Amino acid sequence: QTIYRKDYTPPSYWVDTVEMGFDLDPEATHVATRMTLRRNPDSPNRNLVLVGESLRLEQLRMNGKDLSKRQYALGRGTLEIFNPPDNVTLEIETVTHPAMNTSLMGLYVSNGNFFTQCEAEGFRKITYFPDRPDVMAKYTVMLRADKEKYPVLLSNGNLIEQGDIGDGRHYAVWEDPFKKPSYLFALVAGKLVCQEETYTLKSGREVLLQVWVEDGNLDKTQHAMDSLKNSIRWDEERFGLELDLDRFMIVAVSDFNMGAMENKGLNIFNTKFVLANPRIATDTDYAGIESVVGHEYFHNWTGNRVTCRDWFQLSLKEGLTVFRDQEFSADLIGTDSGRAVKRIEDVRVLRQAQFPEDAGPMAHPVRPDSYVEINNFYTVTIYEKGAEVVRMYQTLLGRDGFRKGMDLYFERHDGQAVECDDFRAAMADANGRDLKQFELWYSQAGTPRLKVDTEYDADAQTYAVTLTQSCPPTPGQAEKQPFHIPVAIGLLDARGKDMPLRLEGEQQDEAPATMVLELTEATQTFRFKQVTERPVPSVLRGFSAPVVLDIAYTDDELAFLMANDSDAFNRWEAGQRLAMRRMLALTGAVQNNQALSDAELEEGTLNDAFRAALNDEALDPAFRELALTLPSETVVAEQMDVIDPHAIHAVRRFLRRSLASSLRGDWMVAYQANRTPGTYSPDAIAAGKRALKNLALSYIVENDDADAHHLAQTQYDNANNMTDRIAALTALANSSAPGRADALNSFYEEFEQEALVVDKWFALQAMSRTTDVAAVRALMKHPAFTLKNPNRARSLIFSFCNGNPSQFHAVDGSGYQFWAEQVIALNAINPQVAARLARTLDRWRKYAPALQEKMHAALKKVAATKELSKDVLEVITKSISN
Ligand code: ARG
Ligand code: ZN
Repeated sequence: QTIYRKDYTPPSYWVDTVEMGFDLDPEATHVATRMTLRRNPDSPNRNLVLVGESLRLEQLRMNGKDLSKRQYALGRGTLEIFNPPDNVTLEIETVTHPAMNTSLMGLYVSNGNFFTQCEAEGFRKITYFPDRPDVMAKYTVMLRADKEKYPVLLSNGNLIEQGDIGDGRHYAVWEDPFKKPSYLFALVAGKLVCQEETYTLKSGREVLLQVWVEDGNLDKTQHAMDSLKNSIRWDEERFGLELDLDRFMIVAVSDFNMGAMENKGLNIFNTKFVLANPRIATDTDYAGIESVVGHEYFHNWTGNRVTCRDWFQLSLKEGLTVFRDQEFSADLIGTDSGRAVKRIEDVRVLRQAQFPEDAGPMAHPVRPDSYVEINNFYTVTIYEKGAEVVRMYQTLLGRDGFRKGMDLYFERHDGQAVECDDFRAAMADANGRDLKQFELWYSQAGTPRLKVDTEYDADAQTYAVTLTQSCPPTPGQAEKQPFHIPVAIGLLDARGKDMPLRLEGEQQDEAPATMVLELTEATQTFRFKQVTERPVPSVLRGFSAPVVLDIAYTDDELAFLMANDSDAFNRWEAGQRLAMRRMLALTGAVQNNQALSDAELEEGTLNDAFRAALNDEALDPAFRELALTLPSETVVAEQMDVIDPHAIHAVRRFLRRSLASSLRGDWMVAYQANRTPGTYSPDAIAAGKRALKNLALSYIVENDDADAHHLAQTQYDNANNMTDRIAALTALANSSAPGRADALNSFYEEFEQEALVVDKWFALQAMSRTTDVAAVRALMKHPAFTLKNPNRARSLIFSFCNGNPSQFHAVDGSGYQFWAEQVIALNAINPQVAARLARTLDRWRKYAPALQEKMHAALKKVAATKELSKDVLEVITKSISN
């Protein structure tokens, strides 16, 4: 059933303290909980409702007495106590089965060790509790377990006591000094080892930092530790926020549904976002670790100290914390061009994943109005669009204004569970601004379109920019009101230089090169004066708002912007537009059965513009790599009224081959110039060089000749780091090189013991263009494959279904049948992971009727499955009906 935001009511009881005792046993863990509760005078409800899931209730006592059967009711997932007194002490004993828990929510076992995941609603799988984020309590936790099997016992906060209890068992008591919602509870127990360091905060206080991993992985923790120290320093410097505990722990676990979790003082991470050394991790992995370590650390303030009133407010902490981790990574690179590269990468994610979500059946506002299963709402809209919404405050208020808003937010709400509106109010009040209309970014789904029309008046020397906004309908929202959109704009003169900007009717002290126009109406005209020549406009600089920009440029203007814009984001954007235009035109040609000839490309603007960018030594290699990467098949698909995955694939490949042959010499020069000999370092400069070099390699290998094969094979054989290794292997896998099979086999043998590398091995094959459904089925039979481990399932199944569109959309529908089988199989193991995979057919209505029909059949097959989790059911139902 559906839960609505408008139905929020405060809890009938507050919980002040929680004491828990765990007798850890994989088969049956006994959990004894004592909590003190106090009636909430603001609640109309007399009864106390606790929630619990997959629990055996062993004992229930209130204020020292067993409850009689008439005093409570045990329903489906609830425990309701009738009309308790105002002050209550509850004692509850429950039993759970961690070893059988494949959902990876609540308490579970991974590789013989115990872990928990309580966000959003996992705590209820541990004990009966008012498991909602606005109920905040102080926790004391005692863990008891076999000392040999589980030498390490961890929970939130500070370790206050530990010792032996006979029978080969031991115990540890942890106390968290801060009130927290139950979703931030965590425990870890098992055979683990740690890298630890003491770190001195700016204030002079010393804290203990630990990174816990399985034995044998201590050679892979340094980067996570460095990232943690960088995060602590950054939050002090940029936001004046200090670590509030004496001890901060990160634990890596190989079975994990998501990336990581910000449990107070005890962050639990997917191994993918902790373990790294040059042998096993790529530059992308290093960057991912840095940002996820940052993300979880930053949650300590934005999420933990100030948390969410209810799960509809999820973006309050997630959007804000993603924004913070994006800024952290950008600041660590430090240079303007490095910041721009980071910005482009983030926007690419938004367009690749969030724009389609916003246009599909699961579209929802940043602050949703309803959900069936909250786990389905840990989405790119809540996270990435949420981060864009936070970024717009900073664009509108400036960095200092944003900081003032943050300061006021903490001054007002530290220790509270609040709403998105409270954040907006803090931003508005701290800056004396009215941000009422800005709420629409939280309440309206869909990606706004922004149309730009311009008019130059040579006599009056004015340049009029008319901005018109609209927003397509989304499920449940037919009509939209105009948003408050910050539009950063610059005007380029014929030499490609920024013109000074002066708005008519404004008092300006100076004439800046970039101005933020505030569009609040459906349409508005901004008139610039003293414009001495017809400019080329550079609109939405830095991607100042999450919108689709509709602006008419000629090919020459795009090439001009790509070569000259002072805004690096828009330089990249111009190249992408140029490429997109060509790709869409060629797709049309393919659909009309026209042959694609190299000739039509080679005299094209695209070719010249790409060559110029590739050879422009003034540009960072990292930027050039982004500029020379064609829009992905998914991004092109979103531009078509009817998606034709086969035509798109053919065109992208054709274009890559054309660029490969026409720029072959230039690619070779770039390849040689961007080698990074010597000791590996994951820093942005070196990583950027490798990125460009490996892009060059991938283009060169498009030629699929002996020289290209030799280049890839040589790089594969000689690489001293995983980035170069995997790039060469990917190139070989997508070629007809004679060494292809040998390389794949030897790679597996070499890294058999490294689960994260085996994931890469599956993923690169899943996404290789010759891999069809049959090949994926064969890979599933490999002894290293299992559906139970989410990383492994993602590496093969998800990589194929989401990352290999032309094979997945095989015209016979075999890809869809495969998808349905895997959703059904995963549903029985892990509903959360299954529901993610279920999202793959979201956009089925956008395809040609023949494919649509087969997708619909697959959707119906899943829908007809018995015992479908509500996670999967919600996704499938919405996909079919919207
Ligand atoms: N709060 C975590 C993060 O943003 C995500 C946890 C989500 N977990 C889940 N089971 N839905 O890092
Ligand atoms: Zn988060």
